[in-house]
Amino acid sequence: MFTYTLIKHTHVTAAALSLSLFLLRMGLELSGNSQWRKTALRWMPHANDTLLLSAAITLVIIGSWNPAIFPWLAIKIALVFGYVIAGFFALRQSTPRRIRIIAALLAMVQIGFIFYLAIQKPAL
Ligand code: HEM
Repeated sequence: MFTYTLIKHTHVTAAALSLSLFLLRMGLELSGNSQWRKTALRWMPHANDTLLLSAAITLVIIGSWNPAIFPWLAIKIALVFGYVIAGFFALRQSTPRRIRIIAALLAMVQIGFIFYLAIQKPAL
């Protein structure tokens, strides 16, 4: 039980950090400051997201969270893919600015739903 709680806290902390780091990078990009790509901000989000997903998979296994039984989890996993793809285009420099802003908004809407589903766990 203690191990599960520890992993859950790790997952939640990494989730909050994932959103913060995305917003920070997007804010810097939109204000024309791309220098973050030469700082630790380049690799930190990847390390954090690896931790986030590793903790998620561990919770699914040791907590017996079967997405076939819990539809909120299946939708959440699908939204995580959407968040990753939208985030990729939002931060890609070669993507036109208008598309990047739309992708950033899509990423934020999706992570909003991810948090909602994770916290409320609605019986769908
Ligand atoms: C951007 C990605 C993700 C975010 C922001 C996120 C966020 C969260 C948050 C905030 C909670 C805690 C909810 C609570 O207070 O009870 C949570 C729980 C959980 N997450 Fe995630 N999550 C993400 C990805 C994933 C993925 C990919 C999986 C599965 C492969 C997953 C599986 C779980 C499970 C099973 C719980 C329930 C733990 C419990 O209540 O005991 N998460 N998630």
